[in-house]
Amino acid sequence: MPLLKAVVKETLRLYPVIPSNARVVPDRDIRVGDFLVPRKTLITLCHYAASRDGRFFPAPDAFRPERWLRRGPTHHPFASLPFGVGKRSCVGRRLAELEIHLALAQILLRFEVRPEPGGAPVRPMTRTLLVPEASINLQFLSRRGGHAAGTLPSPPP
Ligand code: HEM
Repeated sequence: MPLLKAVVKETLRLYPVIPSNARVVPDRDIRVGDFLVPRKTLITLCHYAASRDGRFFPAPDAFRPERWLRRGPTHHPFASLPFGVGKRSCVGRRLAELEIHLALAQILLRFEVRPEPGGAPVRPMTRTLLVPEASINLQFLSRRGGHAAGTLPSPPP
């Protein structure tokens, strides 16, 4: 389970479902580090870029779940924010994480999941949310009989 949770964190670091987020400065000027930000300014944060910053994540574009398994602080606390931060952060975070962890654990106990042989790498694209550019085909190999269970059927419309 620790590795599975690290895999989910690393996936959301590289492919944040919401790739950017925004806040409007309240009705007074604020200072952020060396910057004076005027009241009512719209500030946009690009999670996708921030969570691939090499200052905080060595080899930032590499998929390395083990980076989340080290003891002690693993990274800057605001370097990867797939669920946002603060008062308006995702209220469904715990539910979403629980469902993802349980679903993946149940699937992986029963199947070995592999990419479709010969399938091309699938790149991300933004549609406000980050989505796969093409459909992702996977093979589900039963851990009981080694029989290929085929690809998942498309979800209902
Ligand atoms: C992998 C799954 C999910 C991701 C990555 C995600 C991510 C996010 C992010 C980035 C925000 C904006 C946070 C901010 O502005 O700081 C957000 C807001 C929100 N999310 Fe999620 N979310 C997920 C699943 C869910 C689920 C399952 C629910 C409901 C059960 C949910 C309900 C909400 C709500 C209501 C808000 C608005 C909170 C507010 O504005 O006060 N999310 N989510």
